[in-house]
Order: sequence, then structure tokens, then C-alpha cells
Amino acid sequence: MSHCPVTVLGLGPMGRSLAAAFLAAGHPTTLWNRTPGKAADLIERGAVEAGSAAEAMAASPLVVVCVLDYEAVRAVVGPHADVLAGRTLVNLTADTPSRARATAEWAAAHRIDYLDGAIMVPTYLVGGPETLVFHSGPADVYARHEATLASLGGRAVHLGEDPGLAAAHDVALLDVFWTAMTGMVHAFALATSEGVPAEGFAPYAKGVVGLLPDIVDAFAEQIRTGEYPSEGSNLRSAAAIMTHVLEATRARGLDSSVIAAAHRVAQRGMEAGYAENSYARVVDIIRG
Ligand SMILES: NC(=O)c1ccc[n+]([C@@H]2O[C@H](COP(=O)([O-])OP(=O)(O)OC[C@H]3O[C@@H](n4cnc5c(N)ncnc54)[C@H](OP(=O)(O)O)[C@@H]3O)[C@@H](O)[C@H]2O)c1
Repeated sequence: MSHCPVTVLGLGPMGRSLAAAFLAAGHPTTLWNRTPGKAADLIERGAVEAGSAAEAMAASPLVVVCVLDYEAVRAVVGPHADVLAGRTLVNLTADTPSRARATAEWAAAHRIDYLDGAIMVPTYLVGGPETLVFHSGPADVYARHEATLASLGGRAVHLGEDPGLAAAHDVALLDVFWTAMTGMVHAFALATSEGVPAEGFAPYAKGVVGLLPDIVDAFAEQIRTGEYPSEGSNLRSAAAIMTHVLEATRARGLDSSVIAAAHRVAQRGMEAGYAENSYARVVDIIRG
């Protein structure tokens, strides 16, 4: 079976992992990075390092770019739209949905087939069964390259034609992750300030985290239907509990900005008349 040649632009930790996965799957792989000299081990495994970005792009029908952000993407591919015309550009750089859509418009104006993607796993999982990569953009372009993109391992998911969908999933999932991470660090600060050792607190924190998957499903259903039955706990009681957390945080002289922000959203939900609804109703406060 012949394997589609692939070019990888950007050899940061993620670009290097992508290149390694394409090589392992047998794809002739051409590499380019702004700063040369990062490809030695990949060259040993059969990759070719191009002398310029344009030379790299000309080497393959499928060009994957994975750099810091979309400003860097434009710096790399912007001057070479003529070389990319008629080829497929898969942008696996993380950024915002609006920048993804703007990049897709730029690509369309230059007759470049464009897929926008988001990698949802750390570098060491790329190529393995746990990889999750989101793609968005024209279905026919994705279908043409699906087998090659499957070389990145695990699950590749085409989310739809709107090129902003991969970035939309990415930023929303990162929202879950980083607000939870900040809440977790805040909780460790509060617990330890009260003399609770971190290692003693950890098993109970894990218990709280274990409640979240069922709540995700319940909230998804409530937000889909626009019905917010309280079933055991309503916004009024959530706001009262947050008041206690806020007071305990302030009493210890800790930075209270994280819990104060959550408390403020709950208070605004109360003022809007949602006290008897489930906590998910504050989605309307956040939507504004
Ligand atoms: N690392 C992860 O675990 C992970 C996981 C999921 C998603 N991602 C996403 O994958 C993308 C790449 O991440 P990364 O971990 O490889 O490292 P990174 O630090 O985000 O990006 C480094 C790469 O970007 C290049 N670059 C930066 N500014 C540039 C510019 N103005 N012009 C040309 N190239 C430029 C660097 O080139 P030089 O070597 O020349 O500086 C290098 O190749 C990011 O969008 C990141 O959010 C990463």
C-alpha cells in the first residue's frame, strides 16, 4: 500500500510528535521548522528536512502545520499561498474559533483545501490508541485525507463543515479543565490554611470530582431542553454554600477572586429569579 506524503511545519514538542506518528505509519514525511536543527532524530527515522518552508510545502499534497498560535501560522504559510494552492492544509495549532474561521476564509480565497483541527491529548499519547484529534471543515476534504490523519492514532473526529467547530470544542473543553484546575488549587489552599494536610484532603477531593460526570449529563439535558428542575439542590442553596466558602476564604486572608467570581454569578442568578431552579440555570446569566 502506498502512503500519502505528508509535510509537517513546526517542530515544537507537538509538531515533533505528529511527525513521529506519520513516520511510524510509513508516510514519506518532510519537515520544516523556523529554527533549524530540531529534526535530527526524525531524520534518522527517515524524515527529510526541507531547506525552506516553501520547499517543504511543495513536497506533499497534505501539509500539516502545528505552531504556537494562528499568528505564527500566518507567518509560516502566509507568504506561500501560491505553493499551497491545490494542496490540503491541516492546521492543528490551537487558537480561537473566530481565528479558525478567518484562516479558512484566507485559505478558500487562495484555493487551498483547509481543515482546522485541535489535538486533545498531550504529546506522549500522540500515535497511540488514546489520541483524540478534532477536525472541522469540508467533509470531502476530510474524507480524502482521513486514512492519513488516522496515522495520528486513536480517534480522529470530523465535527462538521464549519471550520470553527474544532476550536470551539477545544476552548470549551479547556474552559472545563482550567476553571476546575483553578478551583482545585483554591481548595487545596483553603484546606491547608485550616490545617488539613493536602494528602488527607486529596481522597475527598477525588470523591467530589467523581460526582461530576453524572452532573455533566444532567446539565446537558437541562440546557438542551431549557428546563431546570432543581431535584434536591437549587440555586438558592448553592449560593448559600458559596457564601460560606467565600467567607472562610476571606477569614484566612486568601485570594478570594476565584470563588468570588462564581459567587457573583450565582447571586446574579438569584436576582434574576432563578432561586428555585437547578444551578445549570446560571447559563442564562453567563450568556448575558
Ligand atoms: N504540547 C502539548 O502537549 C499540546 C497539546 C495539545 C495541543 N497543543 C498545541 O499544539 C501547538 C504546538 O504546541 P507545541 O507543544 O509544539 O509548542 P509551542 O511552544 O506551542 O510551539 C512551538 C512551535 O511554534 C513555532 N513558532 C512559534 N512562533 C513562531 C513564529 N512566529 N513563526 C514560525 N514558527 C513559530 C516554534 O518554532 P521555533 O522552534 O522556531 O521557535 C515551534 O515550532 C500549540 O497550538 C499547542 O497549543 C500542544
